Amino acid sequence: MATNTYVAHAPGYVDNDGPKIVTRRFADPESHTLERYLATEGYDGLRKAMSMAPAEVANLVKDAVLLGRGGAGFPAGVKWGFMPPVWPRYLVVNGDESEPGTYKDRLLMERDPHQLIEGCVIACYALGLNQCFLYVRGEMALAQERIAQALNDAYANNFVGKGILGTDVDIDVVLHWGAGAYIVGEETALIESLEGNRGMPRLKPPFFPAAKGLYLKPTIVNNVETLSNLNWLLINGADAYKQYGSEKSPGTRMLAVSGHVKRPGVYEVEAGNISFRDLFYGENYCQGIRDGHELKMFIPGGGSAPWFFGDQLDLKLEASDVGAAGSMLGSGALVVMDDSTDAVRACLRLVRFYARESCGKCTPCREGTSWEEKILERILDGHGRQEDIDLLLSVGAQISPGRYPAASFEDAGLSAVPFPPRQTTICPLGPSSVAPIVSAIRRFRSEFEAKIVLDHGDHDEVDHDHEDNHDGHGHAHDADATAVAAGGH
Ligand SMILES: Cc1cc2nc3c(=O)[nH]c(=O)nc-3n(C[C@H](O)[C@H](O)[C@H](O)COP(=O)(O)O)c2cc1C
Ligand code: SF4
Repeated sequence: MATNTYVAHAPGYVDNDGPKIVTRRFADPESHTLERYLATEGYDGLRKAMSMAPAEVANLVKDAVLLGRGGAGFPAGVKWGFMPPVWPRYLVVNGDESEPGTYKDRLLMERDPHQLIEGCVIACYALGLNQCFLYVRGEMALAQERIAQALNDAYANNFVGKGILGTDVDIDVVLHWGAGAYIVGEETALIESLEGNRGMPRLKPPFFPAAKGLYLKPTIVNNVETLSNLNWLLINGADAYKQYGSEKSPGTRMLAVSGHVKRPGVYEVEAGNISFRDLFYGENYCQGIRDGHELKMFIPGGGSAPWFFGDQLDLKLEASDVGAAGSMLGSGALVVMDDSTDAVRACLRLVRFYARESCGKCTPCREGTSWEEKILERILDGHGRQEDIDLLLSVGAQISPGRYPAASFEDAGLSAVPFPPRQTTICPLGPSSVAPIVSAIRRFRSEFEAKIVLDHGDHDEVDHDHEDNHDGHGHAHDADATAVAAGGH
């Protein structure tokens, strides 16, 4: 039963009123154990699947329009259909979750590891393969521990391994611990890492993992939440699944909300049916911006997504609507920032993340993200130059040429630039660093200008002027002080 409160043993999760598919066991403190899982329809989805032909299971997933939850929102059933008739073939589970603001997969792995393992085995059965690799982010110690225990129990009880449920189906699931790198969440970098190489993305096209992935064999990479839907979906069917959510985004999805709302947390929601306003201000969800403050901006889909503002609050959380409005729902991570937030500083925090996580394989990202970081740092340190705003945009344009996606800003008569961005890079990490820059400059240019007091070359001269100036011409000093205060240094 929904309690509409935080759940002590699932820190970060809010058990709100609304349909539950993947979080329905979270309220139980023992939800991670095999005993509790079996008492709550655990492995019934697998039994159902194994009573069907593999192709029927794949068709059911296709009929349900189960959208991938890792970021791109590609339908799982359609992706599964891309595998050529080549064996061996593999399933790889992406549990590397590290997009800034995202913390939903960790909860699924910690609170309901059997649900994920069951999803893996159902997918392997549907895809006619018998080897799955479950890649879990290095820092997620509890998730790794719980999955390891759950896997041992599942093997011991014949839900995984040889002759599953007394049939002649053999499926192995290997738990692989990452070393903690954001870029390894990108599916080809994850595959490289699994192969024992440095986690760097592969160029695609020509080959996508479904055709040539792990060991250059057909490989499906799916997100943890995507596969966690399969237990419920197999038991209840595609029609029941489609009763929830919208036509384009059936079912539910997990959203991780952080920042300046009264009740941040992970919510399971019928995404296409609610708006950002419902989510941030609704009693059943985040209950509004913290007292005494107003919304300034929000990131609708993880750190890589262009920012939204008050103008976008009434948009539904529907991928196509959000894309047309200039951003993305991505990994389901929403970061809310109120009017106390320094836009330049927020921008730097995000850019710094991408600069440090860049794998360095391609020049525009390796060099460009570091330049973006350095320029933002000097602006915040009070050493910004007049040309720095244009320089930031120009460096961004080397990484992502053309008009970068952005939200409309009606007051200024700016219209939306639809998502996705173009890229000169191998993967979208480089362009992700441009999102905060373009968003912040387009909307809060005056905040940048306020910090760029004087041309850096004039700085010494101005300070000197001030020292010598005892007759009230203290403009340079005053402006400098303003910049320092605004920069917080
Ligand atoms: C830089 C980068 C990081 C990513 N990180 C993750 C991640 O942590 N988890 C994830 O599931 N997908 C991540 N993705 C998306 C994956 O490449 C892939 O599309 C996804 O795992 C496919 O699963 P799905 O179809 O079930 O959504 C990332 C993509 C990029 C470009
Ligand atoms: S865009 Fe960045 S992270 Fe992606 S491959 Fe190039 S250097 Fe690596």
